[in-house]
Order: sequence, then structure tokens, then C-alpha cells
Amino acid sequence: MTNNHSLSIVILAAGKGTRMKSNTPKVLHKICGREMLYYSIKESLKLSDDVCVILGFEQERIAKAMQEYFGDKIRFLIQDLENFPGTGGALKKYTPKHQKVLVLNGDMPLIQASELEQFLHTNSPIVMSVLDLPNVNGYGRVVIQNNEVQEIIEEKDADSKILALSTLNAGIYCFNKEILESYIPKLANNNVQKEYYLTDIIALARKDSVKIAPLFVALENFKGVNDKLDLAKAEEILGNRIKESWLKKGVLMRLPNTIYIEEGVEFVGECILENGVSICGDSKIIESHIKAHSIIESSFVKNSDVGPLAHLRPQSVLENTHIGNFVEVKKSTLNGVKAGHLSYIGDSEVDCGTNIGAGFITCNYDGKGKHKTKIGKNVFIGSDSQAVAPVVIEDDCLIGAGSTIRRNLKKGEFFVTLGKEVIKEGFFYRFFNKKL
Ligand code: UD1
Ligand code: MG
Repeated sequence: MTNNHSLSIVILAAGKGTRMKSNTPKVLHKICGREMLYYSIKESLKLSDDVCVILGFEQERIAKAMQEYFGDKIRFLIQDLENFPGTGGALKKYTPKHQKVLVLNGDMPLIQASELEQFLHTNSPIVMSVLDLPNVNGYGRVVIQNNEVQEIIEEKDADSKILALSTLNAGIYCFNKEILESYIPKLANNNVQKEYYLTDIIALARKDSVKIAPLFVALENFKGVNDKLDLAKAEEILGNRIKESWLKKGVLMRLPNTIYIEEGVEFVGECILENGVSICGDSKIIESHIKAHSIIESSFVKNSDVGPLAHLRPQSVLENTHIGNFVEVKKSTLNGVKAGHLSYIGDSEVDCGTNIGAGFITCNYDGKGKHKTKIGKNVFIGSDSQAVAPVVIEDDCLIGAGSTIRRNLKKGEFFVTLGKEVIKEGFFYRFFNKKL
């Protein structure tokens, strides 16, 4: 990797992203659980100690979201969107710390540090990324002659001849610092959108015979996200990368195309994921088997098996535990527990050796607040029972089927709720006026 004291990186993220048709700024749309901008910053920090993000639209919201990941490792600069809109306007007040400057669009979440490094391997004062793809829309067209870039024409300003060009501006550039210093002040906004285009630097520099090298790149990594279709496609590419990396590290997956794993997830040891599984947030899965169509959100699972069709909601902690079909767990710690079927376990602590029968529910919400359920060791809970929280069930209790536990139970107690039984012989036939 490059010495991080020789390169500045600036990421353009001030635009609204009108084509997303959303109130959420474009760069905060998530792919695989994290905001698009997170990925560009993460890769940039591998190469540079001077990463600056240009903000404008919803600047506070974006800055706050990124600071949570990166703290003060990045700096922000606010664009004057009213007077200087456009990708060129974004750099009006920007001063890099180093001699070489990489400019990235914030809507390119698939870019990787190893590819950004390629921009530093040529000595031209300007290097720009070019995609060679016929019949693709949404990109500026690049005019190249004798292996040098002559001009970039934005799609909205292009005539049919230019639109037919297959050389597209992928949106990443490497400039010598002096190039930005001399040409940014010269940019004008005489185009269809009345914006200051960064891409106009190319034509200005050409007039002064500055050498501009094209760097041909692959769409898979340089894809720009402008609408929700692009977003979905980018998520598929990134999701495949995440899965491939875990497969190589030894996670076993049945039908990986049906599995969804987010960026913040971690696996340790040999884990098995069956088809249709989703693992989200900052979940950590250690030596566990997650069966078909289960969903795990920000939870810790160790030496356990989950599902099929189980749901672990955030802050669940499972160790040496078996969770079966249609069991939902939320913000609960289960250690050495079996809950095979049809349960809701929320805001609870359940200790080892405890067996939870089918249909058991913790009634953790009383309409005003959430309350805790604590269940000790070796408790046997009969099917179709409820624990009305707050409640404590001590070790070695035995609870009969169909019980509603509204009070704390002491160690070793047996508890059962018995309703009055009613039997009426032959009632069915009288009720429906039928003969026996
Ligand atoms: C831009 C390029 C286009 C290229 C494409 C590649 C320009 C004029 N055009 O078009 O040639 O093919 O990227 O994806 O540069 N932004 C700001 N301030 C602004 C406007 C935009 O910071 O005033 C940021 C946006 O937040 C975004 C990035 O710049 O992250 C690119 O803006 P976008 O509107 O997506 O440009 P494109 O039309 O895609
Ligand atoms: Mg774009």
C-alpha cells in the first residue's frame, strides 16, 4: 500500500441525490447494513491520513453518522450549494494537505483501496477513471484521442453523436495539487444544469496542453449509484464479496445466493449457514449452526443452533443453546437453554439446563413499559405458559402446561394454573341440532 503521507483524498458527498426519490440523502442509503459513504471512507483511510468529505445537503446528519464510525480520522468541509452547486463547486474551498489528490464521488460504494492505488502509478498531472461500456446511461461521456483524454461531456449536455460514445467517466480522478489550485477558480456554470462541473477541468487543462491519462476500470468496482435500481445492484455485488470472503475463511453456506450477510457481521470457527438466512448488524457467530430462513440481528451466538425459521432480535446472547422453529428472542441472554418451538422470549435471562415448552411467552410489555423475566437453572416450563414480567423463577422449578406465572417462584417449586374444568356430555349434537 501507498505511504499514507503522500496522498490526500476528497470525497464529494454534498448533493441531495434527487434521482433516489427519497428524503434520505443519497450517501446515507445503506447497502449491506452500512451507508454508502462509509465504504468510500473506509477504503480511503487505508491510503491516506488526509481524508476530507465535502458536505452540504443534510450535512449534520451525514457528519454525525460518519463520526460514529471514524471519529476524528476524517475532516468535513461544507460546500456553498447555493452559489456554487455542482461537483466543481464542491471543491471551491478545498485545500489538500499533500501533493497528490484523489477525488472520489461519494456515490461509489464498491471502490476498493487496491484500485485507488492504480491512480498513483502514472505520472500524468491528471489521471481519470474511464469505463468502456456501450449503451449505458447515467455517466458523462469521455472523448479520448491518442490515449489522452480531451474532454468530458455530461449526458444532459450531449448530442446524439457524443451520447453514442462508449467511453464513460467513472467519477474518480487523481490531480496534482497545482492543477486543482489553478483550474477550480476558472470553472464556469454555462451548462444545462447551471452547475460548476468538476469535469470541465479536463477541457481547460487540455487547452494548456496538460497531459490527461485515462485509466480504464471495471464497472463492478466503479459503479455509481444514482437511483434505487443502482442501489440494489450495488448491494448484490457487495453482498457477494462479503459472502465470498467468509466462504474462503471457512464458513459453510448452503445455496449462498439465498443468504444475506451484512458488513458488520463476524464469524469465528466453523459456522454453518443454511439457505435463506439473514445475518445483520454487528452480529457475532461462533461455532454455530444457523438453519434455513432464520434472521439474526445484532446478536451474539456461540456453540448454538438456531432455526429453521427463528428470529433473534438485537442484543440477544445465546450460548450452548438450541432455538427451534418460530422462536423469537429479543434482548435476552440464554445460556444452555432449549426452546424448540413457537416462543417469544424478550428482556429475559434464562440459565442452563432450562427447557422451554412450545408456546411459552414472556409478557414483557404491560402497555406502558418493558419488564424483565429471570429464569434460573434446570427449570422445566410446560407448553403454552406465560411469564408476566417482572417475574423471577428460581432454579429447579417445574411449571405445568397452560400456566400463567404472575408471581415469583422459589427454588424447587412446582407451579400450575388450573382453570375450572367444564364437561357437558353430548353437547355438540344439541348445539348443532344433530342426532347422535
Ligand atoms: C458525475 C460526473 C459524471 C460521471 C458520474 C460518475 C460531474 C459533473 N459529472 O455525474 O461525468 O460520469 O459522476 O458516477 O461531475 N456532489 C457534491 N456537490 C454537488 C453535486 C454533487 O458534493 O453540488 C456529489 C454528490 O453527493 C455525489 C457526487 O458528487 O456523491 C456525484 O454527483 P452526482 O450528482 O451523482 O453526479 P453524476 O450526475 O453521477
Ligand atoms: Mg452519480
